[in-house]
Amino acid sequence: MSRRRFLTAVALSGLAAGCGSSSEAGEPRPVGKLAFRTQLRIPPLLRPETGKDGVRRFRLTMQSGRTGILPGTSTATWGFNGSFLGPTIRASRGDRIQMAVTNRLPETSTVHWHGMRLPAKMDGGPHQPIEPGATWRPYWTLDQPAATSWYHPHPHGRTATHVYRGLAGMFIIDDDVEVELPDRYGVDDIPLILQDKTFAADGSLAGDPLKDTFGILGDHILVNGTYDPFVNVTTERARFRILNGSNARMYNVVFSDRRAFHVVGNDAGLLPAPVRVDRVSLTPGERVEIVAAFAPGEQVVLRSLSGSAGIDEGDLDLLKIITASRLTASVPLPARLARTVPIAVPPGARVRRFELNGHDAINHKEMDPSRIDEVVPAGATEIWEIENNVYAHNFHIHEVAFRILDVGGSPPPGYATGHKDTVYVPSKTTVRLAVQFGRYTDPRDPYMYHCHILRHEDSGMMGQFVIVEPGTENQVSRTIPVAHHM
Ligand code: C2O
Ligand code: CU
Ligand code: CU
Repeated sequence: MSRRRFLTAVALSGLAAGCGSSSEAGEPRPVGKLAFRTQLRIPPLLRPETGKDGVRRFRLTMQSGRTGILPGTSTATWGFNGSFLGPTIRASRGDRIQMAVTNRLPETSTVHWHGMRLPAKMDGGPHQPIEPGATWRPYWTLDQPAATSWYHPHPHGRTATHVYRGLAGMFIIDDDVEVELPDRYGVDDIPLILQDKTFAADGSLAGDPLKDTFGILGDHILVNGTYDPFVNVTTERARFRILNGSNARMYNVVFSDRRAFHVVGNDAGLLPAPVRVDRVSLTPGERVEIVAAFAPGEQVVLRSLSGSAGIDEGDLDLLKIITASRLTASVPLPARLARTVPIAVPPGARVRRFELNGHDAINHKEMDPSRIDEVVPAGATEIWEIENNVYAHNFHIHEVAFRILDVGGSPPPGYATGHKDTVYVPSKTTVRLAVQFGRYTDPRDPYMYHCHILRHEDSGMMGQFVIVEPGTENQVSRTIPVAHHM
């Protein structure tokens, strides 16, 4: 677009805002440009009930409803404890947790704790269906480093649809040894759930999450379910926990003035030290924690830049940050963060190879809920090689933490060197991972690995593994019974 057309468009949108007009229609605003008229919604924190036994009990209800997303319309949506998205769950390492998840939807779903290290029965994948009207009560002891995690449905073949309608929430894990970072939720520790949607003229969600190569690549970006958002920052530094909760879209996140900022955490924990960057990329399911510094009385836009992955087209405004005329002092950014040791590859580590085929298979097999694809001994560290000879994919493994060894033979960017659970696998590239498996064993209940582009996951680009007592690998049955309503 020419500079002149751009300026005209900006002037027009400014005019509309000045008149107090709330109509979206008829404003010739270029795609991706926002006017930032709506205050960013911060998902409420979910308060647990703590019983005499010390167990923290969280309640989630999956329900349908209507949500005002675009001005002047309402949208039929699904949410947890509300009509759209879900509350933020926050718990600390060492906590004993029990969830009560009630399904008030018209169809069977599941809730998966993405990033959580827990027994397979508690994982909330396709083998733990929650029928309409039923309540599922998984429990576990939280034992993993501080991280930004999340939760979302995982019903076989229906994940794309359920997530697209609005079922997703953040799950923040705290840890005593956490270093001093901004941590006042919603003030200087701000969740940003990025999702793209397509809307019909009447405000209803449009687009088919299961069509074309990638499914949904929407032209409206929502942050925490807010369209056209701004956020007020009152501190010298703010931490943003960015979660890509989109079905397929990848974001290449920058500030509009290209200021540098620091990445402090990846999917599964804090980095050993802050990494200075001016851009971070996230594919669906990935999280990154950043800390940015601000001056008083400024306005800067968080934006996603167009890329060539096929899932990141268009320069898209995400959020305007408006800072107060006086800012509260923040603690300086610590030089050292996590004490977590990098995942080491033991000599003779087992290597497993996974080839991503088309949009619906891994190693030429579509997902079969009754088939165990891999059997892993508890506590192992293995090398998993993910080979992609087609278009963009990513790869997520349940239960584990992994370190990216290389991407097409080159080391990953510095900000992606921490513990992760989801990784971008660019077209025509092999990614190698050092994968650290947990110690919960269960030869009958599998964990999943899959592409987190939900269109692909639902079409069958998913496999199943069990973690077993070392030495019993060969005794495991490779077929399992499948729950009725999966
Ligand atoms: Cu975020 Cu298998 O999921
Ligand atoms: Cu997961
Ligand atoms: Cu994919």
